[in-house]
Amino acid sequence: MAEENILQRAPSQHLGPEYKSNEEKPSATVSTKVSHENVTVLPQTPQLIALLTMIRDKNTNRADFIFYSNRINRLLVEEALNHLPVHPHTITTPVGRTYAGVKFEGKICGVSIMRAGEAMEQALRECCRSVRIGKILIQRDEETSKPRLFYDKLPGDISERWALLLDPMLATGGSALMAVDVLRSRGVPEDHILFLNLIASPEGAANFAQKFPKVRIVTAFVDQGLDEKNYIVPGLGDFGDRFYTM
Ligand code: PRP
Ligand code: URA
Repeated sequence: MAEENILQRAPSQHLGPEYKSNEEKPSATVSTKVSHENVTVLPQTPQLIALLTMIRDKNTNRADFIFYSNRINRLLVEEALNHLPVHPHTITTPVGRTYAGVKFEGKICGVSIMRAGEAMEQALRECCRSVRIGKILIQRDEETSKPRLFYDKLPGDISERWALLLDPMLATGGSALMAVDVLRSRGVPEDHILFLNLIASPEGAANFAQKFPKVRIVTAFVDQGLDEKNYIVPGLGDFGDRFYTM
């Protein structure tokens, strides 16, 4: 069932704008193609692939890892905001003309899955000034890969908000599923949760889509798979270690 939604793992694609010929465009490995309706993958542009190449490289130092992952996080937040409701809003410009635009409606809050998810908070704050941010501490057991929930602290009115759940890595999906269970237990409807993610495994995306088909995943890349330790491959290693401690 889950495999049916994986259309093509690690395909190769010419990168660049349509007006260029394929001879002018280098090819690179792009996101695995999946058909889950609730998964939005960022456009596989030269810029995104170059940023991902930087953070995947084992020789990239911590300062560069932070800088380039922040840039991708910013793209993820900008895309995720497109999935929030807007209503028509007409304004008058300084030259006295009207412009028929739109305005965001509804309240949001960020929820980071600690520790790695906290690395995405800066990008969210850059786009949404003074946004409220809740925390859920979930750690994956290094032997079993099973998640353990240690702590959560969320805004009291979270059930009335759109929750932007933050975690850069979706491997087996266990941690993200557990975090969604916490949000649902606090009254957040499934279809008011957006999960912002940097790299997903096809298996993790499939698990997630099957259990919570109404939660939208916005990811930069669906990778090739998982290794025997349930690390994403080719992946980027341990995101939290590379961002905070290595
Ligand atoms: C990582 C990552 C996710 C989880 C993904 O966190 O940030 O939360 O593993 O794996 P899963 O999909 O198989 O559950 P980890 O528990 O290693 O903690 P960290 O954030 O402190 O690095
Ligand atoms: N957590 C990470 O940081 N990386 C992986 O590949 C899997 C889980």
